[in-house]
Amino acid sequence: MADKQEDLILDHNYDGIEEYDNPMPGWWVWGFILTIIFAFPYWAWVHLSEGHTILDELDTAMAAASAGQTELDASHDAMVGYLDNAAVLAAGKDTFGAVCAACHTADGGGLQGLGANLCDDNYKNVAVIEDIITIVRDGVPLTAMLPQGASLKPYQIVEVSAYAASLRGTTPANPQPPYGDLIPAWK
Ligand code: HEC
Repeated sequence: MADKQEDLILDHNYDGIEEYDNPMPGWWVWGFILTIIFAFPYWAWVHLSEGHTILDELDTAMAAASAGQTELDASHDAMVGYLDNAAVLAAGKDTFGAVCAACHTADGGGLQGLGANLCDDNYKNVAVIEDIITIVRDGVPLTAMLPQGASLKPYQIVEVSAYAASLRGTTPANPQPPYGDLIPAWK
């Protein structure tokens, strides 16, 4: 027993300090080997498939953060203000072209039986400018005017509603006849 321990002592000796050749425990060595084996598929998962790198996580977090920042005030005064805000109207115009023009036509004149004229002073579901936000978000029940609340972000709804309001007073190519009541000016 004493001899065996003697063999395990490494043969360097520093000022009387000797080193015992103590092997790592088996479970530890196996843990180490498993981390090496694990590394290969994990590397492939992170680098060869989409969306798992730290840069991807940053992109996702930045997108979420900037979406929060573009939240727009939906009050009456803010809506009236957007009528003179070129950036809001430009963004709203893009959404209008993509989502609303199919029924209301790009210039807002509307289509027979499909979309109301948004350029005249008559409205059926709208009395004040901010009502447009409600119409766009929740739709008009039992008509082709479907709710957009699930597909558009809240700030996009505000933008496109401001753009729709800005069409009032313009002259479309093929206006549909007035629909609903004459309502006061937005401001
Ligand atoms: C699938 C066709 C369709 C699409 C797409 C559509 N609308 Fe409409 N919209 C209608 C119809 C039909 C009405 C009239 C509802 C009614 O009979 O009261 C209407 C009514 C409205 C009204 C109220 C008009 C009024 O006289 O009260 C507004 C404002 C409006 N839409 C804006 C939009 C905007 C903005 C979008 C895009 C986000 C949009 N609509 C997308 C069909 C559509």
